[in-house]
Amino acid sequence: MNIILMGLPGAGKGTQASEIIKKYPIPHISTGDMFRAAIKNGTPLGKEAKSFMDKGELVPDEVTIGIVKERLAEEDAKKGFLLDGFPRTVEQAAALNQMLEETGRKIEAVINIEVQEEELMNRLTGRRICETCGTTYHLVFNPPKVEGICDLDGGKLYQREDDNPETVANRLSVNIKQTQPLLDFYREQGVLRNIDGSREIQEVTGDVESILTNL
Ligand code: AP5
Repeated sequence: MNIILMGLPGAGKGTQASEIIKKYPIPHISTGDMFRAAIKNGTPLGKEAKSFMDKGELVPDEVTIGIVKERLAEEDAKKGFLLDGFPRTVEQAAALNQMLEETGRKIEAVINIEVQEEELMNRLTGRRICETCGTTYHLVFNPPKVEGICDLDGGKLYQREDDNPETVANRLSVNIKQTQPLLDFYREQGVLRNIDGSREIQEVTGDVESILTNL
């Protein structure tokens, strides 16, 4: 099963990915998470990525394509994968198709989670994440039982550096520009599936599951 989750920042890609991997034994590959891990480890990749992420800009295609190519070559990704936040440009999508062709694979579905731009600012500025297990919460839409503490492991919740209003505004505008050509690219390939991401998290999960079970 080779799946892509698409959607503007805050559409719910990470939230839905964490539900999908509970049912399907495929790795969740998020380029955002890979860059944040590199930043935390102080690697050269992390230093380069940080300068773009802090401004809400995209990391250059050649860098992003390179790390995805390496990740997809790992053993666990050979039986399938769930890509989250990649591709984000037509160049990345074309490079992904080429990588997959070279290894006799193809994308089965691109699930595009649609949410109006106005709602995304609220979602992102209210997002909180567990520093231990990475579970995502929202101050209003999906709050933890105890303020500031993860329900699952008691870890402290933090706010992502790029979830401040100025950076969110730029992330949204940068991503909106790239989205339409990418949607056209996958629509032409017959793999695009749009879902309404503005409903309750569980309802969106229901739509994702029905797409996956009917593949
Ligand atoms: P990345 O980490 O991928 O961030 P993003 O695309 O901006 O998406 P987010 O992770 O912010 O949102 P999400 O859709 O996962 O939403 P979530 O489920 O958390 O990328 C960060 C940066 O890395 C980029 O800006 C760029 O610089 C770089 N980068 C990454 N990939 C790249 C690429 N391919 N090329 C170049 N650069 C790249 O949900 C958000 C909030 O909403 C949460 O609080 C959640 O609880 C809540 N929520 C979720 N669903 C619902 C719902 N249905 N109703 C109400 N609330 C909900």
